[in-house]
Amino acid sequence: MAAPVKVTVTGAAGQIGYALLFRIASGQLLGADVPVKLSLLEIPQAVKAAEGTAMELDDCAFPLLSGIEITDDPNVAFAGANVALLVGAMPRKAGMERGDLLGANGGIFGPQGKAINDHAADDIRVLVVGNPANTNALIAQQNAPDVPAERFTAMTRLDHNRALSQLAAKLQVPVTEIRNMTIWGNHSATQYPDLFHAEVGGKVAAEQVDPEWLRETFIPTVAKRGAAIIEARGASSAASAANAAIDHVHDWVNGTDWTSAAIPSDGSYGVPEGIISSFPVRSVGGRWEIIQGLEIDAFSRERIDASVAELIEERDAVRELGLI
Ligand code: NAD
Ligand code: LMR
Repeated sequence: MAAPVKVTVTGAAGQIGYALLFRIASGQLLGADVPVKLSLLEIPQAVKAAEGTAMELDDCAFPLLSGIEITDDPNVAFAGANVALLVGAMPRKAGMERGDLLGANGGIFGPQGKAINDHAADDIRVLVVGNPANTNALIAQQNAPDVPAERFTAMTRLDHNRALSQLAAKLQVPVTEIRNMTIWGNHSATQYPDLFHAEVGGKVAAEQVDPEWLRETFIPTVAKRGAAIIEARGASSAASAANAAIDHVHDWVNGTDWTSAAIPSDGSYGVPEGIISSFPVRSVGGRWEIIQGLEIDAFSRERIDASVAELIEERDAVRELGLI
């Protein structure tokens, strides 16, 4: 069997961690023939809980799981890591401003970026899940100057999957009938789920739904789904977020023809270079590529620009805080 791939998961004792680790260990992240070594990074107070999760992982006797390491030291957790899933983050609390959250998370993602820079394997791929995911990914990336910038990505695959599911339910088709769905921009309420390039049965999805439904129901339902889950569950999405993280990394490594991921902009579609924004992407040879040549009408332009403006504001805020 091949040498194990080291997968580091931060926030391993949290809700998403609990939904994620067993699927990684079972082979769903990288493939049914790829052995994995898990590294669980937690804050000191949560190391014991991570040890409990590791005991349960042991109890599954997963054939592909070649070892588990648990630590509160990022330099250890990321040493030789091939894949890093940055899940652990501080959620916003009552009375906190956006700047406070960005600042608090800068304290997490800056040092983690540096530890990745100094210790990870040459082929490291990073997916940031912890919110605000796009800007946390930017902070980590800017603290890892020796790692190719494109290796830092943020998760909008959950938004993508939500969009597929909402559209499939509306048109009463299986999700497998839908092609070319795209989420543009930030993983936030400003994101733009685009039905003008999505196709169902070979025809443009936007032409198969009522424009008012698209504008007043579809877009806000997808964009505010995270808040709706929190309201219903009393906690933020966990299993669906873990599922999306699995989808993102699986497709990055193994290839896919069209999905959504937040990756560093190369200036495509008027998104300023360097911003980590969601695009229509394909993965070829283990690299994300932005799908080019799409026509963007005024309706879509306005929404993409609004979400990108928010990303620029976030970037400027973390710049002002000296985090990048
Ligand atoms: P959680 O509170 O259950 O778990 C977070 C874990 O991170 C905790 O165990 C905590 O101890 C740990 N942690 C905090 N700081 C850390 C650090 N410096 N190093 C290592 N671990 C650290 O939260 P959760 O429900 O698992 O969610 C995690 C994050 O994912 C949140 O920011 C949430 O908003 C975000 N999220 C993103 C998406 C998305 O689509 N991008 C979806 C769902 C949730
Ligand atoms: C989600 O989209 O479910 C998460 O980002 C949680 C949130 O705060 O919306």
